[in-house]
Amino acid sequence: ARTAAVIPAAGRGVRLGPGAPKALRALGGTPMLIHAVRAMAASRAVSLVVVVAPPDGTAEVKSLLDAHALPERTDFLVVPGGAERQDSVKLGLDALPPEYDIVLVHDAARPLVPVDTVDAVIEAVRDGAPAVVPALPLADTVKEVEPAGTPGEPEPVVATPPRARLRAVQTPQGFDRATLVRAHETVTDQVTDDAGMVEQLGLTVVVVPGHEEAFKVTRPLDLVLAEAVLARRRL
Ligand code: C5P
Repeated sequence: ARTAAVIPAAGRGVRLGPGAPKALRALGGTPMLIHAVRAMAASRAVSLVVVVAPPDGTAEVKSLLDAHALPERTDFLVVPGGAERQDSVKLGLDALPPEYDIVLVHDAARPLVPVDTVDAVIEAVRDGAPAVVPALPLADTVKEVEPAGTPGEPEPVVATPPRARLRAVQTPQGFDRATLVRAHETVTDQVTDDAGMVEQLGLTVVVVPGHEEAFKVTRPLDLVLAEAVLARRRL
C-alpha cells in the first residue's frame, strides 16, 4: 500500500489576524506549511505530499518547497485550492496518481503533529479501517446552544453532551482512497472535517489517540504556544 498526504493550505486564516495566508506565516523562522509538509514526510510510509495552495500563490508555494529540503524518498506536488476547505481537499485528491491507495488529509494549520501520531493513523488504515481520525478527550465541558441572532447576546443552552464520550478531532485523518473519493463525490453537506463525509456514507470512522502538539494554530495565542513547543524541541 502506498500512502500520500494531501495538505489543504489555501485558507486565508482571518482569525489569526491580518497578514499573509496562514500557511505561509513563519514559525521559528520557517513557514507553517513547511513544518506541516515535513511532519508528513517524517513518516517513512509517506512518499508523496500534495500541497493545495491559495490559487494566487501556487508559484510562491512551489518555490518555498524547492527551497526547503525534504527527505529523498518524498515527492511533492502543488495544486491550486478552492473556495472552501472541502473544495481544496477535492482538488488535492484529483491530483493523486493512481498508485496511491491510502490518503492522509492534514491541515497546514497543524504544523507540529509528531510522527508517531501520523504512523498510528496510517497503521489503522492498513489494518482495514476506511477512515481514521486522531483525537483527544476534552478538558472543557461542551454545551450545545441555540445561536443568538445578534453577536454578544446571551444564548440559551440546548444540551450538555456527556464529556467523557466527546473527543476533539485532529489531523492527519487517514482514509482508504476509494472511500474518501466516493465521499467527496456523494456528500454535498458542509462538513468541518473529511471523516464527517465518510460518516455520512454510513461507514464507521475510528479514533486513535491524538497528541497535544497536534493542536491547530487558529488564533494569535496558538502562535505563542507553537513557538514555545518548537523552542523546547530545539533544546
Ligand atoms: O479555517 P481552518 O483552520 O479550519 O482551515 C483548516 C485548513 O484548511 C487550513 O490548513 C486551511 O489553509 C485550509 N483551507 C483550504 N482551502 C480553503 C479554506 C481552508 O485549503 N478554502
